[in-house]
Amino acid sequence: MTKPRVFVTRSIAQEALDKITQVTDMEIWPEELPPPYEVLLEKVRDAEGLLTTLNDKINTTLMDAAPKLKVVSNYAVGYDNINVVEATKRHIVVSNTPGVLTGTTADFTFTLLMAAARRVVEADNYTRKGQWKTWGPKILLGQDIHNATLGIIGLGRIGAEVAKRGKGFNMKVLYYDEIRRSEEEERQLGVEYIPKLAKLLSSADFITVHVPLLPHTRHLIGAVEFGLMKPTAVLINTSRGPVVDQRSLYEALKSGQIFAAAIDVTEVEPIPPDDPLLTLDNIIITPHIASGSFTTRKNMALMAAENLFAGLRGQIPPNCVNPEALRD
Ligand code: DGY
Repeated sequence: MTKPRVFVTRSIAQEALDKITQVTDMEIWPEELPPPYEVLLEKVRDAEGLLTTLNDKINTTLMDAAPKLKVVSNYAVGYDNINVVEATKRHIVVSNTPGVLTGTTADFTFTLLMAAARRVVEADNYTRKGQWKTWGPKILLGQDIHNATLGIIGLGRIGAEVAKRGKGFNMKVLYYDEIRRSEEEERQLGVEYIPKLAKLLSSADFITVHVPLLPHTRHLIGAVEFGLMKPTAVLINTSRGPVVDQRSLYEALKSGQIFAAAIDVTEVEPIPPDDPLLTLDNIIITPHIASGSFTTRKNMALMAAENLFAGLRGQIPPNCVNPEALRD
């Protein structure tokens, strides 16, 4: 029996690749940079399955070029790189990797929060540049984390894990979400629901964003929202870059409207080297690595492989985002 043709767009954990080669006719893109769109168009021509990353634009044109495509298994929890509505119309199942990266992403969110509050990157640069001349009462002062108020925008899986970390630091944890958690869940997490985003923004010392990128979450945080924040506020974004209006973020940081920011995602990735944000000391910018632990990246790969296999068999993958694609 011929094995189904599959294109894997990046080199992921070997454990997953071994499994995929056993049951498919796999081709893998081995380069560090993602396949250019034209290459992707070529590679999907006879593919039944795709294992993609957030770099791969899976749009109508690409689906037109892939008449045999049954499944797009995205190696990420976010799937804003895929036109899911169009995939559904064509009975192509789309899957993601939720759950396995929750703790790791929450850990990193807290890492950024703490690093920005206590100016860790700036302090390290200060030392390396030979500026450390003496102990000083006013050198590199930051914001306290313990007992502060943490404002979480989007209390999904990752947001809830961040809340737990905040409780560990005795923080007061507020959250805003379109969907309120049950009273029991709020009690267990020790969080308080704030029905108005503006109120959360003006009350929190630390604001962290955990929403998917959707048309109505694009620039959710812009000039107006920065205007509501405390001058001591710290903003953290490990969700998707376009959720924060980067130009307004620059203005807010430059003018001292907020104290600091730490972002793992940018509006354009990678951030262009001439982006004004890179000239500021009060922002930490990391290259979209929040889920990047050895264990989690392996688990994401294994999960993506299982999703791929189910889709190739004509079944709904365990982590399918459009099960209706296989319903009549
Ligand atoms: C995701 O999963 O959506 C992250 O951005 C990459 O791990």
